[in-house]
Amino acid sequence: MATAQQLKSLLQSYSEADGEMFVSVALQIAAHEARAGKGKLATEIKRLVDDIKTKQKQARVGGSVPITRPIGELSALLSATYPRTKLSEMVLAPKQGEALELVLHEYRQQAKLREHGLSACRKLLLVGPPGVGKTMTSWALAGELKLPHFTVQFHSLITKYMGETAAKLFAIFESMRHTRGVYLFDEFDAIGSMRAGRNDVGEIRRVLNSFLQFLEQDESDSLIIAATNLEAILDDALFRRFDDFIRYQLPGEQELRSLIENRLSAFEIGKHDLNQLATIAEGLSHAELCRACDQAAKQAVLADRRTIETGELRQAIETLRERKQSVR
Ligand SMILES: Nc1ncnc2c1ncn2[C@@H]1O[C@H](COP(=O)(O)OP(=O)(O)O)[C@@H](O)[C@H]1O
Ligand SMILES: [Mg+2]
Repeated sequence: MATAQQLKSLLQSYSEADGEMFVSVALQIAAHEARAGKGKLATEIKRLVDDIKTKQKQARVGGSVPITRPIGELSALLSATYPRTKLSEMVLAPKQGEALELVLHEYRQQAKLREHGLSACRKLLLVGPPGVGKTMTSWALAGELKLPHFTVQFHSLITKYMGETAAKLFAIFESMRHTRGVYLFDEFDAIGSMRAGRNDVGEIRRVLNSFLQFLEQDESDSLIIAATNLEAILDDALFRRFDDFIRYQLPGEQELRSLIENRLSAFEIGKHDLNQLATIAEGLSHAELCRACDQAAKQAVLADRRTIETGELRQAIETLRERKQSVR
């Protein structure tokens, strides 16, 4: 039997996600069993440990990463998910699609690039209006690369005390080194516009600067994504720190058509209607058109129909536009 101390160490290493310690304690237990004459049990434990080591190695060299949850302070700062979203589920303008495919390609070939002193494009800045798929892109990159996805929780990050915020930022960047994943600073302008407590503008700028400094120094294997709706915060200092900048725009006619087709693929919809609807939907974001499509789909389902009528979707779009007007 393992000693109480060994069990305690095993549990502790698990809770601290310390893989090396976990393996070392397990091997101590195997040795302990061998000494006690339980050779078969010792061999079985060693075999299990070998399996764990192989998995740890795969995770380091680019296999899928074992499921990890942020622990301790990080659990308030990062929310973890394991998205299955695929890039093919997104409707993207050709330029955007190409840029994102290239990110995936380079990331998958990281080792090869590194051998030649080159680094993959890992730090992305996504800019565009709300509802055009910036957050979804981050999920899709994680889904495609089978990486965990961590969203930085700004409400926990930004406190009254700048020193504390900088320390928390540091902890997030440390986590990027230890736990490979996609790290999303969503609506990242929150860093630039924090208004907590006694902070003056100079302090706010300093927090943004420490973010940029950490970003510049980062040499982890994680993908770092910052998304913002605010063009105003963009300046050269910012651009310099990112490897690539991808601009998002409201969908054009072709994208609107594809969105309706994708979203309503379970229903029948005439080609003529589709063209007409894409024209009506002009000016909507991807998210808004998805919502209008869902509204029309629900109506059809509840009426036991498999066809969508132009009038229904048009109505859903108009209702959505009116609602938007009234909240402005
Ligand atoms: N380019 C897109 N292709 C397909 N669906 C989209 C796209 N953009 C947005 N959506 C839909 O709208 C939802 C909200 O989009 P989101 O990624 O949160 O937008 P943003 O982060 O740019 O504000 C998504 O979850 C998805 O259902
Ligand atoms: Mg978003």
